[in-house]
Amino acid sequence: MRNPIIVALDLPTATQALALARQVAPFVGAFKVGKELFVSAGPDIVRELRATGASVFLDLKFHDIPNTVAKAVTAATRLDVQMLTIHCSGGSEMMRAAETAAQNTAKELGRPAPLVLGVTVLTSMDSKTLAELGGETDVTQQVERLARLAVTSGLRGLVCSPLELPVLRTFLLPAMQLVTPGIRTGAEKADDQKRTLSPQEAMAAGASWLVIGRPITGAPEPAKAAKAIWDSLRA
Ligand code: C5P
Repeated sequence: MRNPIIVALDLPTATQALALARQVAPFVGAFKVGKELFVSAGPDIVRELRATGASVFLDLKFHDIPNTVAKAVTAATRLDVQMLTIHCSGGSEMMRAAETAAQNTAKELGRPAPLVLGVTVLTSMDSKTLAELGGETDVTQQVERLARLAVTSGLRGLVCSPLELPVLRTFLLPAMQLVTPGIRTGAEKADDQKRTLSPQEAMAAGASWLVIGRPITGAPEPAKAAKAIWDSLRA
């Protein structure tokens, strides 16, 4: 079985991120570099993680005019990340430009294209937030609408909340990669994640990959926590 655990390296410095990555690497499938770490440590953190042999998910959630997003995706592909995120709300032309840039750049470099993941509705948003923006106010309807748009725009994966997995799997092909954060094992203390599933529940509901931060990075022994999750998935 492929290890589906992606550890969110939500840490402020490259030193801290690399130290943690080293500890948990034997028990996880990839590392997620998000805005905090990328803005403080720069593209070198991706190069250093890749140099250890790890796969990298660059979670910068691009959202801009299609040409700008395509150029950012080209740069990320050259940096050799295995996954990256864009906002589906940027529209079909932007999504298509991102996917095409990933495919074409990877082809030039003779590598597999990174998985361009669409972010539908941020889990921090609810019907009130959607109403502020105008248009659809039902979160599930909007998630479904953007997921369908991502598929017709050629994306091969989406980021979604664990509770959206069952509905998305009713109409998405099995090959569509679903990456889900909001994973909790029950062993950690309560934090700001409100809608969560356990790793096993999320995989059973159709997740392809699990983004796990604090249950591993905030554990007294991160390697032990990562191993326990991986063991629970293999059992
Ligand atoms: O620490 P925790 O397991 O909550 O980390 C989850 C990671 O997934 C964080 O990097 C967070 O930014 C990200 N994320 C999320 N919910 C989303 C999208 C991304 O928690 N809807």
